[in-house]
Amino acid sequence: MRTKLVVGNWKMHFTAAEAGAAVGTFLKHVEAKASVDVVVCPPFPSISRLRDLVRDSHVKVGAQDVFWEEKGAFTGKVSARMLYDAGAGFCIVGHSETRGRFGKTEIPDSTLPYFQETDETVNLKVKALLFHSINPILCVGETSEERSVGKTDDVIRAQLFKALEGIEPAELYFLSVAYEPVWAIGTGDTCDPAEANRVAGLIRKLLAERLDEDVSQVIRVLYGGSVKSANAHDLFHQPEIDGGLVGGASLDPLEFSRIVMSA
Ligand code: PGA
Repeated sequence: MRTKLVVGNWKMHFTAAEAGAAVGTFLKHVEAKASVDVVVCPPFPSISRLRDLVRDSHVKVGAQDVFWEEKGAFTGKVSARMLYDAGAGFCIVGHSETRGRFGKTEIPDSTLPYFQETDETVNLKVKALLFHSINPILCVGETSEERSVGKTDDVIRAQLFKALEGIEPAELYFLSVAYEPVWAIGTGDTCDPAEANRVAGLIRKLLAERLDEDVSQVIRVLYGGSVKSANAHDLFHQPEIDGGLVGGASLDPLEFSRIVMSA
């Protein structure tokens, strides 16, 4: 039986003081349950502050991205070693927003090339995280155009296999994979729970094919994309879905606590 996992992706929201206040309110309202792991992923500058604030609770802290090199002349980048030192036990990798695949674009199209994550850089990041014992939360998902031409399963397969290239199954017991259909992210257009369950099942089948049956049964497969308290229960109780990656709704501590309680 896999323990459920609910991850809050705070994206580019909250100063350290605001993040501290949000987690404080959340902790007051959520009941600690051994059956649910909770992770919050604030922007880099708030990680160590949150690590101190959640120390005596069941909540863990994660990061939203990482750079794969150990150190060097890479202005603006943050390594896995630095994340570990700051207190991140988890890290989101390959999020569609870092891949430049936005569900809802709020920036000029001309700036999209800035977001250039590829399957190859995702693979390098997963390896760097594993080297520093940080649990990767690998995001995969199709755009609405890909879905409309029947390419969903091919996209998931390619993103998953490329992200895990050259990694031994035994290293991946602490991996989580989030199925995040791009068209559902930040749009309010949640994936139908039965379809999310089908794709989560496909991910587990592909993991068994690429890794082995044992590891595929341990890895948690999450759903992300417009999760809120009104739909969390239905999504999280699908047999193949082990929890969620929650963006917008995780910014409201009361709403996020309701989502966690539905797991
Ligand atoms: P959303 O974002 O819940 O705001 O749709 C999810 C995500 O981007 O991980």
